[in-house]
Amino acid sequence: MPDQPAITPQPAIETSTETPAAPERNSETPAPPQVAEVLATIATLGQYEGQSVTLRGWLYNSRESGKLIFPIFRDGTGTVQGVAHVKSVPAEVFAALKGLTQESSVIVQGKVRADKRAPGGYELDIEDVQVVQRVPESDPYPITPKEHGVDFLMERRHLWIRSPRQSAILRIRAEIMRAAAEYFDNNGFIRTDPPILTPAACEGTSTLFPVDYFGDPAYLTQSGQLYIESTALALGKVYSFGPTFRAEKSKTRRHLTEFWMVEPEVAFMDLDGLMTLAENYISHIVQSVLKNRRPELEVIGRDVSKLETIVPPFPRLRYDEAARMLNQAHAEGKLENAFEYGNDFGSPDETWLSSQYDRPVMVHRYPAAVKAFYMEPDPQDPTFALCVDVLAPEGYGEVIGGSQRVSSFELLNQRIEDHGLPKEAFQWYLDLRRYGSVPHSGFGMGIERIVAWVCGLDHVRETIPFARTLHRIYP
Ligand code: 4AD
Ligand code: MG
Repeated sequence: MPDQPAITPQPAIETSTETPAAPERNSETPAPPQVAEVLATIATLGQYEGQSVTLRGWLYNSRESGKLIFPIFRDGTGTVQGVAHVKSVPAEVFAALKGLTQESSVIVQGKVRADKRAPGGYELDIEDVQVVQRVPESDPYPITPKEHGVDFLMERRHLWIRSPRQSAILRIRAEIMRAAAEYFDNNGFIRTDPPILTPAACEGTSTLFPVDYFGDPAYLTQSGQLYIESTALALGKVYSFGPTFRAEKSKTRRHLTEFWMVEPEVAFMDLDGLMTLAENYISHIVQSVLKNRRPELEVIGRDVSKLETIVPPFPRLRYDEAARMLNQAHAEGKLENAFEYGNDFGSPDETWLSSQYDRPVMVHRYPAAVKAFYMEPDPQDPTFALCVDVLAPEGYGEVIGGSQRVSSFELLNQRIEDHGLPKEAFQWYLDLRRYGSVPHSGFGMGIERIVAWVCGLDHVRETIPFARTLHRIYP
């Protein structure tokens, strides 16, 4: 069977990391490689200049010219080009590399050599290669380095994430999530996780995903807000961080049906305090990415000068002023559709507004009528809500939505009735206004929207390992 992949029997490294015969070895700790002493990753090759190292990974691409082979390896931390000359490596090593198929898994030994022209700054002079699994020519890896359509790639998302660009995006996403939690952990917030199965809506009944809960209706959560309002009144400063669900019928580049939201909620905080929190928060996240994920930003070709300006304070704009700007832009022919005062902003409005500034703009005090039932009215004019949407620059639009919360029992009770929400399901929420009600505020930030902006992507489908959208739930 010539087409069968040549599976190297029992590669020493793989079996010994898992064998119970070496119980003292932590599963993270690799076994000593057989040839070279040092097990390295591509991202850390710089520490080993002039030394022989072992890399474990996959063949990303390869170029051959007669007596020379230039395989490019990837290992999840980066890519590196190897060099093998027919005279400098054993014959079987040259043979193994010759015609080796894309995405075959390999263990490679080689000497690290600095090379200014190389993308990561280093190349590997190959000494030995062990092929772990050779991808057969008869069933080649489907994603070649040539261009493919997005549908083709999304259908193979489980493989597409191996590409240098997609894995760089996922590494940036992980840094954003790390920094998003770090800010709160370092500033006295307690993480409290709300339930995902809930009996009622938070953000409007039209986008609920129903679940059969042992014969009773339940829904996947749209936001943890109502629950973290209760934990904020228990613990003071809290946040939640988890998946949220919206049965959005809209097919836009900003909407997923399953996305990750991070939500702070703070007792005794007002709208001004919330805006200060939001600008410090976003700045911390962007600056962390700049500090810790430079190489990845380079891989995806992001213009980092656009991120370096993201420091507080952010401009604050009343809804009224924003509406005036939109009307003027329309009058000057810069915006296609007229903005109707009193409405929420549409995507083109947000895109235009957010492209007017070099940092996020915080639009506050929208008309109460277009916003959620739980938002505190502005005491200066109760037709406006004490709320804020943060719009990211370069046309990215809303990344944060938040508000001060209604603190009066009577008003909240009335709002629940006016919005036709099921009263019984909200009794516990009303308890928060019955017993020690205080002014309090919070916001929700969509991780995928932040990743799209920080990475400069034109669609949220590339910001999450497996996007869930109106027409996609595979793979
Ligand atoms: O503005 P939203 O709907 O606000 C809330 O859910 C509040 N309860 C949050 C709170 O105050 N604790 O959603 C918050 C953020 C949006 O600004 C956006 O970044 C993101 O969540 N978001 C989505 N991201 C991807 N796909 C969707 N369908 C999203 N809907 C909201
Ligand atoms: Mg919103």
